[in-house]
Amino acid sequence: MFYKKTKKVLLMGRCAAGKTSMRSIIFHNNVATKTRNLEPTILWDNKTDVQFLGNLHLNLWDCGGQDDSFNDYLTTYRSLIFKDVHVLIYVFDAVSAELDKDIHYYQSCLESILTHSPDAIVFCLMHKMDLIQEDRRDKMFEKQKIELQVRSEPIQIQAFQTSIWDETLYAAWAKIIHCLIPNIKALQASLDTFCGICGADEIVLFENTTFLVIANSASIHHPDVHRFEKISSIIKQFNLCTRKESYSRQMEIKGSNFTAFFDTLTKNTSVLLIISDHGINDQILIWLLS
Ligand code: GTP
Repeated sequence: MFYKKTKKVLLMGRCAAGKTSMRSIIFHNNVATKTRNLEPTILWDNKTDVQFLGNLHLNLWDCGGQDDSFNDYLTTYRSLIFKDVHVLIYVFDAVSAELDKDIHYYQSCLESILTHSPDAIVFCLMHKMDLIQEDRRDKMFEKQKIELQVRSEPIQIQAFQTSIWDETLYAAWAKIIHCLIPNIKALQASLDTFCGICGADEIVLFENTTFLVIANSASIHHPDVHRFEKISSIIKQFNLCTRKESYSRQMEIKGSNFTAFFDTLTKNTSVLLIISDHGINDQILIWLLS
């Protein structure tokens, strides 16, 4: 029997931490430069309802971070906001002048999560890292991550550094959606088989609304560990152009020693294949993707 499985994701953090900016970039095809004029979110916006792979729906609650709103979440709306939460994403402004207050609100939210959704997975995003000097970022983040884990006990958190100005945003959100996809292991195994049949160097599977990487399979070692997030960002730009100019989503790029194919695979996914073995007949790949 068909049933719709909705997973509630809470996006929280103090005002101007960057929550709506990341939501609009990941889910609504906005670009970083256009986030400067976003209006503050009053109470919450839960209209982002994305269909992921098959019958999985993600319902994102972007909760405005004004002090008054926070106080309402923790009192009047406590059960409404914090019940049935699958994932809590808490966004910290890396250059906040009120770190103690930020931590106070964060811990109050965790208490409510423990009461109403004790199995929720908690992600902390140390955001706006572009505003920190590049050579200080990793050290500062590692220190904050340890501090946040201590403040989050008994909950085990996952923390990432992010910025809307680079691929770190896509890296963090790809990790977040991984924990929402129930059959991710089976999907990975199928992709490995597909990669073997095609004789591809690498296959990357993207979710169509967000262009986040769902899974990848590689038969070679690649030196750039951030290549997937970069690809997400590039393909998103490509998607923006094609929507505007109504080009086809299909793409084939021939380099001197590789061929890359990009195409829609299913209603919710697209696939990128990279092949360097010229012995492989392109027609086989076209057939596999058709
Ligand atoms: P509330 O709705 O008031 O809770 O705020 P919010 O957390 O939704 O913040 P919003 O997304 O509106 O962003 C506030 C400002 O931060 C905007 O001017 C964004 O352009 C800016 N911003 C968001 N992300 C980043 C980032 O990664 N780096 C920098 N430098 N600025 C960012």
